Amino acid sequence: MSDHASTPTLDLDVVRAQFPAFDQPINRDQSFFDNAGGSYACRHTIDALTAYYTANKVQPYSEYAASADAGEQMDASRRRWAEALGVATNEVVFGPSTSINTFVLADAFAPLLGPGDEVIVTNQDHEANTGAIRRMAERVGATVIEWRIDPETGLLDPDEFRSLLSSATKLVTVPHASNIVGQENDVAQVSAAAHAVGARVIVDGVSFAPHTIPDVAALDADIYLFSLYKTYSVHQGLMVVRNGLLGELPNQSHFFNADVPDKRLNPAGPDHAQVAAAGAVLDYVTDLHRAHGGSSDDSLRVMCSTVSSRWRDHEDVLTGRLLDELGSHDQLRVLGPRTVDAAGGHRCPTIAFSPLDREPTDVAHRLVERGVQTSAGHYYAVRVLEGLGLDPARGVVRLSFVHYTSAADIDRACEAIAAEFG
Ligand SMILES: Cc1ncc(COP(=O)(O)O)c(C=O)c1O
Repeated sequence: MSDHASTPTLDLDVVRAQFPAFDQPINRDQSFFDNAGGSYACRHTIDALTAYYTANKVQPYSEYAASADAGEQMDASRRRWAEALGVATNEVVFGPSTSINTFVLADAFAPLLGPGDEVIVTNQDHEANTGAIRRMAERVGATVIEWRIDPETGLLDPDEFRSLLSSATKLVTVPHASNIVGQENDVAQVSAAAHAVGARVIVDGVSFAPHTIPDVAALDADIYLFSLYKTYSVHQGLMVVRNGLLGELPNQSHFFNADVPDKRLNPAGPDHAQVAAAGAVLDYVTDLHRAHGGSSDDSLRVMCSTVSSRWRDHEDVLTGRLLDELGSHDQLRVLGPRTVDAAGGHRCPTIAFSPLDREPTDVAHRLVERGVQTSAGHYYAVRVLEGLGLDPARGVVRLSFVHYTSAADIDRACEAIAAEFG
């Protein structure tokens, strides 16, 4: 009998046994609601990192066994992530974080843009997917056009996007899901519309990938970024650069690395151990797939897709409960849709709210006192809060969870909210 089973789709005892953080004394009798900041690492990740540091902590890709094996582990991570995301191995680039990946991308795009060109950005993005691109566009004399959120709902209107596009549009940046509003944007539709006018598309999947390992090929974005450390893995950013763009963007690495696909857009040089361990989270996915009756013969893409469906079904039930609780209190404003499947798309379990009469830091503090591990702030989504008419300096409270969150965790959060606002 499972201690945590709350939905028929996911065996939470199996899931939670893979995350050693739950067993640590510091987390005892606590419920973790800060996942959008960084999720727990699964034991596969921790074991792989430890194994690399123990046996392979040398310069990789030399002939001796420890070094050759280190290089093979790094290559395997790229190959496996490519399979998981449905793309080619040489389209996968690891970098230190998503913020630095977009920073490098901005410089890479600079020579391709100039006066008369237009770049469409949103005010729904985390600053990582918009700040460096805006600065670069201004520097080269391109026009920055902002696709703005609805000030009440926080949502982006696809019709408005289409009206902003023209033959002058060269680049579009958009979040797959906002780290405040939670709503998923239809990025396949954005890509199709942008491509129809010849523009390139950069999608920030950081707040989406922990909930659904994306079928990047199906989305058809030219660049898709996410942060592995929020996806149960190591502290690295992963970006997929597709549709021939990797060769088109000027090399950002040492001149002699121009023809090395995984180095062209990573001037930092790889963190060997973390790249080597980056693929281990896919062993977790494989284990979950098998534990729920899936075949070992399935491809990684199929496993990611079926396991992600289980994650999503489980999360959706819990999201509905938390949204209902938050929505029942007049003294707070829920940001983004109040239902899981509102008009316009599904929402991820990244749920922020603004207390009307109290300081967000005070509310977060009280929730923490009740064992709800959360925080308050602007979460680098300053433009989103401004777009919603909120003061970024005051911030908001965010409760973000993932598939390993249990019904008991949601009970605790709901009871704490009720006690504070009831
Ligand atoms: C939606 C979103 N995009 C981008 C980032 C930046 O990612 P990184 O910390 O890997 O630079 C974050 C980080 O919180 C985020 O939430």
